[in-house]
Amino acid sequence: MNVSIFIDDALKTIQRGTVDRKSPFKLPALSTSTDNKVFQRIVVARRFIEHDQSLIIYTDHESQKYHQLKTNPSCSLLFWDPKKRLQVQVAGEASFLDNKIDYWDKLNENQKKDYVINPFPGTEISSADAIVMTVLR
Ligand SMILES: Cc1cc2nc3c(=O)[nH]c(=O)nc-3n(C[C@H](O)[C@H](O)[C@H](O)COP(=O)(O)O)c2cc1C
Repeated sequence: MNVSIFIDDALKTIQRGTVDRKSPFKLPALSTSTDNKVFQRIVVARRFIEHDQSLIIYTDHESQKYHQLKTNPSCSLLFWDPKKRLQVQVAGEASFLDNKIDYWDKLNENQKKDYVINPFPGTEISSADAIVMTVLR
């Protein structure tokens, strides 16, 4: 396959992932690195901005990834489609949008709940029995 066709197709699939809850590209793994350590986690691909081919994800100011990306904006996203057996890795630089009205305030209550996690990720727990998990839907 011609590389430019592959790239166009990959970008379209990434874009579709932001609007199609069932798309496997909805949930890429975001990699960051700081102090010579690499970190990865799943995030929701929320919006694709066509003119600069950027992808918007949401996170908390208190998350590790936020601090890691502030320290070192170099990052990559890995998308995986198990049916097509297709992986797409995108490397880039993170920048920060603090326009709450255009982003956070546009989420519905269920979408907002996805970001309320107790205990906050990264919180040290004293033992495996110390936490009772409850899933609210
Ligand atoms: C399906 C799924 C979607 C997630 N989406 C996000 C997201 O969009 N933003 C986010 O900050 N964390 C999201 N998380 C939680 C992260 O994967 C991670 O556990 C958390 O943000 C803490 O990561 P950090 O300590 O590396 O910052 C999601 C987790 C899962 C399982």
